Amino acid sequence: MLEAFDFVIFGGAGDLALRKLIPGLYRAHREGSLAAGSRIIPTCRNTQMVAEYKDKVRDAAEKHLNSDEFDAAAWDAFSKCLFPVFVDIGTKDEHWDALAQLLNSGGNSQRVFYLSTPPSVFSICCKHLHETGLITATSRVVVEKPLGYDAKTAEEINSQIAEYFSEDAIFRIDHYLGKETVQNLLALRFANGMFEHLWDAKSIDHVQISISETVGLEGRASFYDGAGALRDMVQNHILQLLCLVAMESPNKMTADRIRAEKLKVLESLRPLNGNTVKYNTVRGQYVAGEMGGKAVPGYLDELGQASNTETFVAIRAYIDNSRWANVPFYLRTGKRMKQRFAEIVIQYKDVAHRVYPESAGMATPNRLIIRLQPEESIKIIMVSKDLEKHETHLRPVVLNLNFADTYKDFYSDAYKRLMLDAAAGDASLFIHRAEVDAAWAWIDPIIEAWQRPENKPHGYMAGSWGPQASAQLMASDRRRWFSIDEVLSGADQEW
Ligand code: BG6
Repeated sequence: MLEAFDFVIFGGAGDLALRKLIPGLYRAHREGSLAAGSRIIPTCRNTQMVAEYKDKVRDAAEKHLNSDEFDAAAWDAFSKCLFPVFVDIGTKDEHWDALAQLLNSGGNSQRVFYLSTPPSVFSICCKHLHETGLITATSRVVVEKPLGYDAKTAEEINSQIAEYFSEDAIFRIDHYLGKETVQNLLALRFANGMFEHLWDAKSIDHVQISISETVGLEGRASFYDGAGALRDMVQNHILQLLCLVAMESPNKMTADRIRAEKLKVLESLRPLNGNTVKYNTVRGQYVAGEMGGKAVPGYLDELGQASNTETFVAIRAYIDNSRWANVPFYLRTGKRMKQRFAEIVIQYKDVAHRVYPESAGMATPNRLIIRLQPEESIKIIMVSKDLEKHETHLRPVVLNLNFADTYKDFYSDAYKRLMLDAAAGDASLFIHRAEVDAAWAWIDPIIEAWQRPENKPHGYMAGSWGPQASAQLMASDRRRWFSIDEVLSGADQEW
């Protein structure tokens, strides 16, 4: 059990706090993970917000928690841990002193400062924390993406925070690392001998990592248009997933060892630049289409102005080390896609020699499918004899491990997990500064090459699987984006 801590959320009434942070802390409280005496201290921008805070977060929690999770009595008990305060982050005035008094009066030595704010105020917030004497030896700061716009701006942000906090007290969140199946990927690889022996270029044909979203701009136009899918999803979430798939085994499951192995993967990514960007990447932008039977506007209509920002990206990447020599990693993400899902597909090589005649049916390669959402599952596609037929006929079948069946009534919540880890000082699932730098070092030249006129985004209909060029990227390697229905029906063998 964690010892009691103080958890200060700057931007405590913001969207992230209301949708994810407070509900996550409520879950932690409900499952008994908040020691008695722990305090959650959300900061608000004025006194009226402070007065209304508890009602507001209660309404938000009812909306964002699953219906069977919200319990009025449990909420009332949790709400006693909430101490909203008025702090203007940019102005060092008596409200900062009041915050200091509150923190110093509680007797909790563990402190977390969660900066749920735009990065533009990280520096001033850290400075004021320092000047108020709030940064103790057992204080940590948690920061959210976007950590910069490119390598240079990321470096600036990281340097500003580093003026006040040492690297081991800086917790850079990537909420994908808090998803249970993502952590399970490490268990799958490093606690199951059978997979780790089949985890390299000798056995694996290629890897696909897809995060497909149905949402569009969601009222985040100004942020999103300045970022685009590559910065918003690939630089962080997708590259982190790639690291976990590709990294070598750390000799211990400690933050330092895990992060050192991930860093080696990022540093081994084959650089893409100039002409190789055109051949290995696809940019897309959605145009008006249909989602779930309803017409939806295109990106530019939602935005209300011209833009070349991509809402879809597909990349063929390589990791230049001996484990992964010439194994393509196909990365893909997009908004306003046909379905919401995130999954990693490891496709194995075909059998070396086909002993069955063609008349026995198709030979389908094995795939290991790690599904992160909407459901969390691990599936293996195997080939089996069709039991319903007398003659030998082969067909693909699915071995399915659905976590919802094994762990009933379990809601995984990435933010809850990561907030508790930050409170415990465990940085294993947080990103080291060197990883941020290495990720940008790979991304920046792609963005630069995209400035060329021939690399404008391709249009794709909202509600589709992205631009045609994305299917062509795979087809040029005689491969397809994975679809379980296609594989089971044999359509993946058609050309
Ligand atoms: C965020 C991106 O980091 O991740 C959003 O900024 C995206 O654009 C979101 O929608 C996706 O997260 P999840 O957990 O819903 O897949």
